[in-house]
Amino acid sequence: MKILAIETSCDDTCVAILDARPVRSSKIPRFHVLSNIVSSQTKIHKKYGGVVPSLAKRAHQENLLPVLKGALREAGMSEVKKPKIDLIAVTHGPGLEPALWAGVNFARALSYWWSTPLLGVDHMEGHIAANFLQKEKVEFPSIALAVSGGHTQLILVKDILKYKLLGETVDDAAGEGFDKVARLLGLGFPGGPEIARIAKQGNPSAFAFPRPMLNSGDYNFSFSGLKTAVLYKIKKILGLDLNANITESKLSKINLKTKRDIAASFEHAVVDVLISKTMRAAKEYNAKTVMLAGGVAANEELRKQLGQKIKQLEKMGELKAISYKLPARQLATDNAAMIAAAAYFRKNKATLTRWRTLRANGNLKIS
Ligand code: KG4
Ligand code: ZN
Repeated sequence: MKILAIETSCDDTCVAILDARPVRSSKIPRFHVLSNIVSSQTKIHKKYGGVVPSLAKRAHQENLLPVLKGALREAGMSEVKKPKIDLIAVTHGPGLEPALWAGVNFARALSYWWSTPLLGVDHMEGHIAANFLQKEKVEFPSIALAVSGGHTQLILVKDILKYKLLGETVDDAAGEGFDKVARLLGLGFPGGPEIARIAKQGNPSAFAFPRPMLNSGDYNFSFSGLKTAVLYKIKKILGLDLNANITESKLSKINLKTKRDIAASFEHAVVDVLISKTMRAAKEYNAKTVMLAGGVAANEELRKQLGQKIKQLEKMGELKAISYKLPARQLATDNAAMIAAAAYFRKNKATLTRWRTLRANGNLKIS
């Protein structure tokens, strides 16, 4: 079957077409990504240091049609005649509600116009499903660490479509932490890749930033205190009062080496906490697979260090053999191919009449 998926939960306008062929003796089909177009709005939001929902919505509305056209063309499908699509899938939450509505309404219109069944997909389920697009098998139970700009969740995936949310952030998401610290350091947006870039030449042990909730005994996270610790450190280095503002001219007094050290030490602290809780969950639930998901899964240090930790614990006999799944970097950050993959597993819920009723829900929770 061919699935056309649309994703507009944040600041990327995404359309993908996925071909799914069932494999005998496996619940996971053979997926073939026919097209996967991502149109970034970074230029629009950059000057605000974050995504502005109303501007995101407007840009999605402008971009959706040309992006759809590009996706059809790349998949070798007609832009004029009704394409051979069996199912339309669209992210209906969680995310920025005005942005979500742009994609949802576009999908509803297409479903009506083409008489094609429509399905709403959970964005976080999509991030997890990015791992099913790879060739290697995923075995259950699996632990998924889903880390994005809006979410930080540790999820027990008992089987396809069977989730238990073990814990999540009580304040900022991990990606949000990266974005905010990048802003404190006067780096560009989105902050994650910028922090990662300068952290490469920094010393991760230069500053002893806290590891929030490392020993909280649960699977929850907190990143807001870590960001504040970075803020206070910067003020201390600049000799400022704790309640003084950091202006750009003051910030320019911090040399590049110090910025690199702060970035590396911050990244190290985040990665430490994420890995520690993921490993504890993997042990407790006898996971056969550990999966990374979400935009922060593009982080090189997280990818590398989690893999090393798994190997180390296997060697020490603390973990049974685990397969470690990493989405390719372009499938880790927001895209529509992952939404199409998630839709494949929920396809039975797709209907022809959903175009009448489908709604966006910014606070949708994985179930
Ligand atoms: O999943 P995603 O593309 O969008 C949301 O659903 O939020 O995740 C975006 C987040 C941003 O906060 C961005 O800074 C972060 O992922 N990110 C990274 C990296 N690449 C993207 N964080 C750390 N290291 C990276 N290399
Ligand atoms: Zn996302």
